[in-house]
Amino acid sequence: MSQRTQVAIIGSGPAGLLLGQLLHKAGIDTIILERHTRDHVLGRIRAGVLEQGTVSLIDEAGCGDRMHRQGLIHHGIELSIRGVRHRIDFKGLTGKSVMVYGQTEMTRDLMDARSMAGAPTVYEALNVMPIGYDGTRPIVRYVEDGEPKDIACDFIAGCDGFHGISRQSVPDNAISIFERVYPFGWLGLLADVPPVSPELIYVNHERGFALCSMRSHTRSRYYIQCDASEHVDNWPDDRFWNELRRRLDKQAVARLVSGPSIEKSIAPLRSFVAEPMRFGRLFLAGDAAHIVPPTGAKGLNLAASDVHYLAEAFIDHYRGGSDKGLDHYSPRALARVWKAERFSWWMTSLLHRFPDTGPFGQRIQLAELDYLAGSRAAQTTLAENYVGLPY
Ligand code: APR
Ligand code: PHB
Repeated sequence: MSQRTQVAIIGSGPAGLLLGQLLHKAGIDTIILERHTRDHVLGRIRAGVLEQGTVSLIDEAGCGDRMHRQGLIHHGIELSIRGVRHRIDFKGLTGKSVMVYGQTEMTRDLMDARSMAGAPTVYEALNVMPIGYDGTRPIVRYVEDGEPKDIACDFIAGCDGFHGISRQSVPDNAISIFERVYPFGWLGLLADVPPVSPELIYVNHERGFALCSMRSHTRSRYYIQCDASEHVDNWPDDRFWNELRRRLDKQAVARLVSGPSIEKSIAPLRSFVAEPMRFGRLFLAGDAAHIVPPTGAKGLNLAASDVHYLAEAFIDHYRGGSDKGLDHYSPRALARVWKAERFSWWMTSLLHRFPDTGPFGQRIQLAELDYLAGSRAAQTTLAENYVGLPY
C-alpha cells in the first residue's frame, strides 16, 4: 500500500515527537514510524534537565502545561569536591535557570498531544528503510503487521537515535564520524525517596564520580561511575547505596534516604558526532547524529535545538519562502552540537576518575576544580554552558 506525507519522521523519541508537533502546528503533514511500542518508548529512563530554550520549544509545540505544573526550576547545581560542596549559582551568574522534568514525562506529553491532534504514528514499524533521498522523490519503506508498505514524501527526518537506520543508510564515503568512548559507565538507580538535596550534586571523589539528581520531590535518581564491563546484576540495591554513601559529603550522607529501586541500569559513556547532518532530502536530528556523555545533561537539549533549526527550515520551505534554512541546517546545527560536545567532554573529564590519569593528572584535575570553586569567571563559563548556549 502506498501513502503520502510531506515529512516522514523515523523515530518517536523526543526529537521525532517534538518535530512532529512543531510541524503540525504549522500545518505540515507528518507520519512517524517507530520500531517499538508506545509503552516500550515510555519505559526508557533518561535524563531530565531542560534548558530554557527546550522549555520554550515545548511550549511552542503546545505541550508545556504539565511540565510547568510539575517541573522543578533549579537556579544552580552543587559540586562536591573532596567532601566539600560548592554551589554554582546559575541565576546569579547568567540570569537563567534550568527545569528538572523527566524525559519520559515530556515524551508522554508529546505523544498525547500528537494523538489529540490526530496525527499518525505507526508503532512497531519494522524494517524501516529510507530510500531515494538523493533524488527528488524519497520513500520510506517498512513492514506493518507483516505487510510491506511505502510512504512517499518530500523529506525524511531521521530521528531514530544512535542505533537507528537513518544514519546507517548513508554510504560510508559520504559521512565522517568523530568518536570517543570513555573507559567507564554510569550505574543509575531510580527510587521513590525524597532527594538528598534541593539541587543536583555532581561529585568528584577518589572512588569515582557520583551524581544526585531527581524527578520530583518524592522521586530521586542517583548515579555512580562504574567499570565499563560491570553488570547490573552485581549491584543489589544495598551495594549501590553503600557505594554512593562512600562518595558523598558528610552532610549528604546524613540526609540520604535510601529505598528499593524502581529501575537500575548501566549506561556507557560516549562522545560521537556524524557529519554532515543532511544527505539530500534526509535530515538527521538528535541522537541519530550525535551522542554526548550525560555529565552535562545535554543529550535531550541538543535534540531540541536540532529540531528547532529543522522545523524552522521546513516551515520556511513550505511557506514558499527560501530553502536557505534547509541548506544551512547541517552547519548551523553542528556549530551548536560541537560546543555542547566540548562542554560534555569537559565536565566528564573534570569529574570522573580515569584509569590512566596517574598522580599528575589527578593533581591537575584537583587544581582545575579548586580554580572553579574560587573563580567567578570559571563558574560563569560552566553556568552559561549548563543553562544552554543561545540558538
Ligand atoms: N525504525 C523506527 N524507529 C526506530 C528505528 C528504526 N530502525 N531505530 C530506532 N528507532 C526509534 C527508537 O525506538 C526510539 O524510540 O527511534 C527513537 C529514537 O529516540 P531516542 O533514542 O530517544 O533519540 P532522540 O529522539 O534523538 O532523543 C535524544 O533522548 O535518547 C535520549 O539521550 C538521548 O536525551 C537524548 C534524547
Ligand atoms: C538525570 O536526572 O538523570 C540526570 C541529571 C543530570 C545529568 C545527567 C542525568 O547530568
